[in-house]
Amino acid sequence: MQINQVIETYNQGAADYDAIMMRYWHIEREPLIASLQLQPGQTVLDAAVGTGLNLSAYPEGVHVVGVDLSLKMLDEARKKRVSADITLKVSDLYNLDFPDNSFDAAASGFTLCVIDDPVRAVKEILRVTKPGAFIAILDYCKSQDPEVQKWQELISDGALQLGFPTGKIKWYALMDYDELLYNSKLPIEVLVDDRTESLNPFSCGCQLLLKNSKA
Ligand SMILES: C[S@@+](CC[C@H](N)C(=O)[O-])C[C@H]1O[C@@H](n2cnc3c(N)ncnc32)[C@H](O)[C@@H]1O
Repeated sequence: MQINQVIETYNQGAADYDAIMMRYWHIEREPLIASLQLQPGQTVLDAAVGTGLNLSAYPEGVHVVGVDLSLKMLDEARKKRVSADITLKVSDLYNLDFPDNSFDAAASGFTLCVIDDPVRAVKEILRVTKPGAFIAILDYCKSQDPEVQKWQELISDGALQLGFPTGKIKWYALMDYDELLYNSKLPIEVLVDDRTESLNPFSCGCQLLLKNSKA
C-alpha cells in the first residue's frame, strides 16, 4: 500500500479498529511485551502503535515511544489510560526520525503485514535500536501449509484492495516471515519463532522474539 492509502485506510478504520480486532484477531498482548524483559528506565519503540492495543501491557517505569502514520489511530491510542510513560508521534517506519541506537527494545503488532517493504521497515527498527536489543513481533502471516496458502492467495487481492471489514483493515495475506527471517540477511538472531497455523486463511499468525545482532 502507498503511504497515502495506509493513512486513508487506518484513519477510516480507527474508531472501529479495537472492536474489529477483538472480534476477529483477539490475542493477549502481555506475553509479547513480557518477552522483551523490559527494565525500569528503559525506552521502547512501539513500531506502528495504532490504537495502542499493546500499551496496557508495558510495565510501569518504562518509557514507550509509539509511532504511527495515522493521526486517527494515534487519537484512539491517546484515550487509553496506562501506567507506562508514553509518547505518541507521527513517524514513518521507513524513515524513523530518531538517531541510531535510541531504543533498548522494540515491539510491533500486526504491522509488517500491512507494509509493502517489510525488510526496509525492519532495517529501520534495527538502526534505531541498540545492538543486542530484543524486538518482539506479533503478526498475521502466510501459512506454512500449501493448502492454506492457496486460500490465502485467493483472499489476497480482496484483503489488500477492499480490506476486511470492507475499507477498514487492509493487509498482505501472503506476508512471508520465512523470507523475512531466514533469507533477507538482516542482522537478526531469531530467538523465538512461534507460528499459529489454522485452516482459516484469515487466522494464521506468528509471535517472534528477535535480537538485534548488528555490530
Ligand atoms: C493493523 S494496524 C496495527 C496497529 C497496532 N500495532 C496493533 O497491534 O493493533 C497497522 C498500523 O500500521 C500503521 N502503518 C502502516 N504503515 C506504516 C508506516 N510506514 N509507518 C508507520 N505506521 C504505519 C497503520 O497506520 C496502522 O495503524
